[in-house]
Amino acid sequence: LAVQDLAGQVVLVTAGPTREPIDPARFLSNRSSGKMGYALARTAFRRGARVILVSGPTTLDGPPGVQRIDVTTAQQMYDAVMAHYREATVIIKAAAVADFRSREESTEKIKKDQASLVLHLQQNPDILKELGARCDHDRQLLVGFAAESARFAEEGRKKLHNKQCDLIAVNDIGSERTGFASDANRLLVLDNRGYMAELPYVSKERCADLLWDHIVANNFLRS
Ligand code: PMT
Repeated sequence: LAVQDLAGQVVLVTAGPTREPIDPARFLSNRSSGKMGYALARTAFRRGARVILVSGPTTLDGPPGVQRIDVTTAQQMYDAVMAHYREATVIIKAAAVADFRSREESTEKIKKDQASLVLHLQQNPDILKELGARCDHDRQLLVGFAAESARFAEEGRKKLHNKQCDLIAVNDIGSERTGFASDANRLLVLDNRGYMAELPYVSKERCADLLWDHIVANNFLRS
């Protein structure tokens, strides 16, 4: 049996991509597979937490023992997170939320009888930023992820502050070996105490355990 160092914690994890419909056949999305978020959910459950997983469309099986809520669009992910975040003592946002959606969803398939096509995009709500403003930081630990391809520490620190997170885990999406869809990852963890920790390059499952180790060992848990 794994160490039960997350016993008593309620962990809300978001995972996977969102899909933003354009017409009945097409959508805007990204390359997230859900592996990182599912690994966080699975390891948290194994370490004793009650786990709620809000998941965008993935091909992964729901981890046993974990309450999974399936969503498709960013707006649905926003609604599911806002309905459940008050229960959580730890919130981890590993999902790759689409920043934009098509302003109109065409009910009919868009035809290709034009040489070019203009799609008007509208910004989606920023779920993490909203949580940063709304959650009770004395009682709840808010952990963001940052997908970056350069200036990792600098960009991560900007997101940590702009979105009022307690911790942010930065990963390199410019490499095939880390970030989107890979089986392994390497995280740079920044916190609002001003510290930075470089975790090693390991499987996403191990990476999730190392992130929990980091959170527990540095006394980030609220209860
Ligand atoms: O799913 P995998 O294939 O395993 O890949 C893992 C991963 C690369 C998707 C994951 O490790 C990761 O980095 N997730 C965050 C991806 C992302 O959207 O990063 P970002 O830098 O664009 O966003 C920063 C943070 O804000 C993220 O916590 C994101 O969930 C959140 N966000 C972003 C936009 C938005 N509208 N709402 C949000 O909550």
